[in-house]
Amino acid sequence: MDNKGKKKKYNLSRFIGRVPLCRCAIVPLRHFLLYLCSFKNTILLSLIIMKKYKRYLVTSALPYANGPLHIGHLAGVYVPSDIYTRYLRLRGEDVISICGSDEHGVPITLKARNERVSPQEIVDRYHSINKKAFEDFGIAFDIYSRTSNKIHYETASDFFLKLYNNGEFTEKTTEQYYDEEAGTFLADRYIMGTCPHCGNENAYGDQCERCGTSLSPSDLINPHSTVSGSKPVLKETLHWYLPLDKYEPWLKKWILEDHKEWKTNVYGQCKSWLDQGLQPRAVSRDLDWGVPVPVKNATGKVLYVWFDAPIGYISATRELTPDWEKYWKDSDTRMIHFIGKDNIVFHCIIFPAMLNAEGSYILPDNVPANEFLNLEGDKISTSRNWAVWLHEYLEEFPGKQDSLRYSLCASAPETKDNDFTWKEFQARNNNELVAILGNFVNRTLVLTGNYYSGKVPERSTITADDEAVLAEIRRISENTAEAIETFRFREALKEAMNLARLGNKYLADAEPWKVIKTDPERVKTILNIALQITGNLTIVLEPFLPFSMEKLRGWLNINSLKWEDAGRSDILPAGNQINKPGFLFEKIEDDVINRQVEKLMATKKSKEAAGSKAVPAKDPVSFEEFTRIDIRTATILEAEKVPKTTKLLKLKIDTGIDTRTIVSGIAEYFEPQSLIGKQISIVANLEPRKIKGIESKGMILMAEDSDGKLVLVSPLGKVNNGSLIK
Ligand code: MF3
Ligand code: ZN
Repeated sequence: MDNKGKKKKYNLSRFIGRVPLCRCAIVPLRHFLLYLCSFKNTILLSLIIMKKYKRYLVTSALPYANGPLHIGHLAGVYVPSDIYTRYLRLRGEDVISICGSDEHGVPITLKARNERVSPQEIVDRYHSINKKAFEDFGIAFDIYSRTSNKIHYETASDFFLKLYNNGEFTEKTTEQYYDEEAGTFLADRYIMGTCPHCGNENAYGDQCERCGTSLSPSDLINPHSTVSGSKPVLKETLHWYLPLDKYEPWLKKWILEDHKEWKTNVYGQCKSWLDQGLQPRAVSRDLDWGVPVPVKNATGKVLYVWFDAPIGYISATRELTPDWEKYWKDSDTRMIHFIGKDNIVFHCIIFPAMLNAEGSYILPDNVPANEFLNLEGDKISTSRNWAVWLHEYLEEFPGKQDSLRYSLCASAPETKDNDFTWKEFQARNNNELVAILGNFVNRTLVLTGNYYSGKVPERSTITADDEAVLAEIRRISENTAEAIETFRFREALKEAMNLARLGNKYLADAEPWKVIKTDPERVKTILNIALQITGNLTIVLEPFLPFSMEKLRGWLNINSLKWEDAGRSDILPAGNQINKPGFLFEKIEDDVINRQVEKLMATKKSKEAAGSKAVPAKDPVSFEEFTRIDIRTATILEAEKVPKTTKLLKLKIDTGIDTRTIVSGIAEYFEPQSLIGKQISIVANLEPRKIKGIESKGMILMAEDSDGKLVLVSPLGKVNNGSLIK
């Protein structure tokens, strides 16, 4: 949708603007038009049946209460949802924004066990830290609730019971690992052992964190329980399953046909899940932390965290208002889920299937999930402490919330993963916030102070240039609105900042500081218009920079305005007394940024020192065995992705003896183009294998470190292809 929408935006926006509709219908109509246009569809507009929404329910993924929040959280979910909500509020819409802590799940119980405290203690700690971090960054939820609340237990139990009583679940007994010493079933995470792939002795039953392979407990060598250390045994256990397969046809229609306007990354993930075919999903677990399964014979069983957590949106709304049903059960409500990409299947497939099975709730109308934000070229990781923590940022950059909000929105991972670097953060702050926005506001307010003791001057004759500027304000606000409504927040911010750019250009062209000497009447008009631009900035930038815009309103001596006021040329009435301004933004110096970079590098170094333990040595092989392996140099001639896969590259290789195809699982690490012409090493006599229907003859040699980073093994000097490596 992003890209599709972008291409067609300009020729459509005028037309859309003219369609006579009640305001609340604008959003879905725009989507629809953009969508139609993106497919060059020529359906008659008179056939369009529009949905009018009376209110909005905005949800933001409930973060786990087992660690503090970092910039990835803000960029992926909470800054976008806050921009959207603030915008709707400015429009005067009936909107509530819901969030809270997700307080169940195995990682929380593991952390509690490690620290020898109760899970409740863990979630209490992080709930309050995270609640405060959101408040500090101006993420203005109407409620920040939590899933250990009584009201949530009731809501989740009732939800389960309704499905249970309607016969929506199937029951199944399976074998699961059980710790006889501790008398408890073991979630996969509670089982550790040696990874069969890399030899890491501390691999988990669901994943080896060293080599990244996903595992099941039975893959582990020497599995042991992390609870007691004993060897787990298989034991039968009964669970309840939601038969997702039953909802597959309905989901296919609802998503693949009725929601083609969803972002391409979201739509694509859903399609791939649906194409693979859905399986029944267990909605209960053998655990003692969570919402107890509310039926007989279910002792020791709780609701699966991904069953109870999304119901948390409902519980939080109930907690917020007795009127909660109008938000959840009236089809005039438009529900939007803001999430990160790892949550897509839960919000687009499983939760909707649950809501559909329950029957009385509405479904999300859009799920604008973002991709991931990386930090200085590396995946953000809580366990590796590779993150910028919100509470630390605030300590080190007090009062600079908007600088971070701005930078995170400007480079948000909207269509692909994106990288946060401190240098870019500094540049955005210094070259954009300070040099463009701050500079314009400062010049305007200082000149008004100097020439008119801070009183807004009267306008006299308006020139054609002045007219053009006023018209441009309205155009900018419309473009900003349209981008926000279609979840293109980066573009929206860029557009809103164009108003400050416009202001700078206007002042630079009009040169009031020169004209004051020859034509003081004209300067009154110039500054009046510059002040109208400033007033308008407080509207279009409010969703993005709430702290600074509040400050600016204070200097301008105005109350907060409505979005519809944007474009008005009398936002600041003549005679309005303006207060003495300060600086909206401060320059961030190199040494401050360097300190942050050094701090990260120190983390990396200490991690490398601790984590450089190499994989344990393998068993000896004889020289004879070794020489049977044909390792030789070769050059990559061609490289392309294997269609419909994410990991595989198809490589054409010159081995000195022939030209052959090798399929290699390295697509996530290398751009195909970057490989062409590289001289590498291969195992040439590995038995051919068919991979995705392609015959692969041999293997590319790679070195892989304990973080899963891959590099090609190349000869240090140039040799002929086919030279033996021995
Ligand atoms: N706690 C989950 C995560 O951080 C998100 C839960 S969203 C909800 O990935 F819908 F389940 F609440
Ligand atoms: Zn491993």
